[in-house]
Amino acid sequence: MQALKGFKDILPDEVVIWQRVEEKARDIFQRFGFEEIKVPILERTELFARSIGEATDIVEKEMYTFTDRNGESLTMRPEGTAPVLRAFIEHALHLRRPVSRLFTIGPMFRHERPQKGRLRQFHQLSVEALGADHPRLDAEVIAMAWLLAVELELTVSLELNSLGCPECRPDYRRQLVDYLQARREQLCDDCKRRASSNPLRVLDCKSANCRRINADAPSILDALCGPCRQHLEAVRHDLDALAIPYRLNPFMVRGLDYYNRTTFELLTDALGAQSAVGAGGRYDGLIKQLGGQDLPGIGFAMGMERLVLLIQERQQITPVGPDLFIACLGEPAAAYGFTLLHQCRSRGLRAAMDLQGRGLKSQMKQADRLGARRVLILGEDELNQGRAVLRDMTDKSEKSVVLSDDQGELLSALAGTN
Ligand code: HAM
Repeated sequence: MQALKGFKDILPDEVVIWQRVEEKARDIFQRFGFEEIKVPILERTELFARSIGEATDIVEKEMYTFTDRNGESLTMRPEGTAPVLRAFIEHALHLRRPVSRLFTIGPMFRHERPQKGRLRQFHQLSVEALGADHPRLDAEVIAMAWLLAVELELTVSLELNSLGCPECRPDYRRQLVDYLQARREQLCDDCKRRASSNPLRVLDCKSANCRRINADAPSILDALCGPCRQHLEAVRHDLDALAIPYRLNPFMVRGLDYYNRTTFELLTDALGAQSAVGAGGRYDGLIKQLGGQDLPGIGFAMGMERLVLLIQERQQITPVGPDLFIACLGEPAAAYGFTLLHQCRSRGLRAAMDLQGRGLKSQMKQADRLGARRVLILGEDELNQGRAVLRDMTDKSEKSVVLSDDQGELLSALAGTN
């Protein structure tokens, strides 16, 4: 039996890196006042169709959708924004705080063609700030994504765009449709279809012909209305003030329809075709569209697998070994060692011992393989004398410690290792 294509087991050595990334993300998000929320993996299909957009690749061909036993159409979430907004509306979270700052971490599902950094079950750190439309919030959210990349020591570049608003985008869309229709024959098959159904997506096409045509396409930045232009200028001003470098990319469009105004991506050139480590933008209007109040919002998501791949390419991370390995010779020592093992663990130490009655040499090998920092050697003599040798595995120094009911001397000798 093998895992499904595009579904990956994350083995213990890799989990160590996952934990590090999650720990760093939680730390930074909390510094910015974001709170964790957990939302279900299954939702009604309609939630995603209404938010991500019927004409997007995600909704058209990538969702894991099925009819459940009650005849209801359900979908395994392809992204985190829609479920978090659904929960925000359902629990009236706007009453808790003027701006709700929420993040969630977990698996998402898209039936895409798997390749390096692209899976069918992948994981996102997904962040939403709901309730304010001030451009400073955009800069703050982008700064948070940026800081996470910086503190994970990743080399990424930031691209920024504005997709306008319902006032100015329809005009731009018309200009773009006219431009694309006049060149329709030269577009790839996918883009021939998109040119009328989802013309902005054409700007994102990777095929050489489409890219050539896109290079001269009208730019959304020239079509922005006054307020959208001012919003973008203010975001840029604040990013400059925070010394966060970015490139304006008027051809950056997103695979989800709910965005307006600010959009951004954090890119890497270290993962081949999968260059986006994280991406997001503003979605004023979406909360209302989903049945909530007319509140604005902005957010982003980072791909865990991509972050982990980048870290793995840079450095080897070894799992943390036990603080103490208890090597025992003979059953009385093993019985004593077993209670000591539990005592150490109850005091917050990572402790291990062999349960198979192996010889001292192979126990020492095992301690070494586990990366134990210290080894306590217990035999019959040690039990009789009430003293045992504590060996430091790094500098090989040894120290004699008194064995007592509360193991005070041993525990204080170990205290520095935590
Ligand atoms: P997205 O651009 O679809 O946006 O995904 C965000 C990130 O998730 C991508 O930049 C990438 O790192 C990762 N990702 C996406 N698909 C895959 C995949 N198949 N395999 C591995 N990683 C993947 C969203 O999902 C929006 N909900 C982000 C957002 C939040 N916008 C506002 N708030």
